[in-house]
Amino acid sequence: MRRRDFVTAAGAAGLALWTRGLFEGAAAASHSAIPFGAAVSDGPLQTDAAYQKALIEHCQLLVGEGGLKWADLRPSPSQYVYDQPDRLIAFAEANGMKMRGHTLAWYAAMPDWALQLKGETETSRELMTHIETVVGRYKGRIPSWDVVNEALSDDGPRVGLRDSVWSANLGEYYIDLAFHTARAADPAAQLVINDYGLEAATAKSSARRRAMLDLLRRLRDRDVPVQALGFQAHLPGNEEIDKDEVSRFVSDVKDMGLDVLVTELDVIDDQLPADIKERDAIAAKRVGALLGAILDVTRPTAVVTWGITDRYTWVPIWYKRADGHANRPLPLDEDYREKPMMRTIKQAIAGA
Ligand code: GLA
Repeated sequence: MRRRDFVTAAGAAGLALWTRGLFEGAAAASHSAIPFGAAVSDGPLQTDAAYQKALIEHCQLLVGEGGLKWADLRPSPSQYVYDQPDRLIAFAEANGMKMRGHTLAWYAAMPDWALQLKGETETSRELMTHIETVVGRYKGRIPSWDVVNEALSDDGPRVGLRDSVWSANLGEYYIDLAFHTARAADPAAQLVINDYGLEAATAKSSARRRAMLDLLRRLRDRDVPVQALGFQAHLPGNEEIDKDEVSRFVSDVKDMGLDVLVTELDVIDDQLPADIKERDAIAAKRVGALLGAILDVTRPTAVVTWGITDRYTWVPIWYKRADGHANRPLPLDEDYREKPMMRTIKQAIAGA
């Protein structure tokens, strides 16, 4: 379908559904507790019983670290490999949990063939077919999707649209297309725009908050069915959270009729002191400050950490500590014991 046809056909029909769904969702959320969840690594899910037990004990919500990313799901244009997401959703449902979907349009974790997409027609057709197929397959079972991940650029003081195969071929309109297609594929799912670097008391983070608000306003003005903003919240441990600014930002986002949630929480601790007590206390403080800043304004629809245990985390891949000590970014330590961060999260959620 051509871009213009799509906008007239799906845009108008999609909007009515979206507006209705948004308010029903918001009302329901205000009567229930905030679900807590974690990202799951597929390997240990299959081999580590203690890992499974921890997920069951602590989580109401799971999301695959991979599996639904294009690189895993689409090795070739004709293939959809559902092994990982099917395994995860089966585990979630067998244990009374829900699964979030991550992610439909991102610049990274792309198979080579998809990076070769050229032109508006081919690119929009592939993006739409992918979203229709994948969201359609899990319709009614995945209640919340990160539709667009990391739309904002990160290459200088001016924050704009992130370069990707999507933006190169479709401009900012790829976001509209992704959301309209997801909305049509599952009218009841919460559709999320997800990004990082929105929390700190730094000039960079402040520029990202402004750029995100501007983007959300443009999307709202074009009737794009975004329902929530996801704070990835990979919090740099050495940066203070700007509580006032984050609260104001959340309030501006809410004023646009959007919900917020925390989608990938962890604390990047490579610059923090080696002493474990001290380090864990700072990490918990950062998490408490972020959740507090959000909760002062609204109830997030979910709080999800990017992993549950320090045993399995992406952080050392990029942020290994210079002193050789293991990273401690997550709520449980590597022996599945609760850390101060877990207590902070539980308190924040319980008090909400
Ligand atoms: C980003 C992505 C996630 C994950 C993390 C950590 O935040 O959204 O899928 O890859 O980075 O690696």
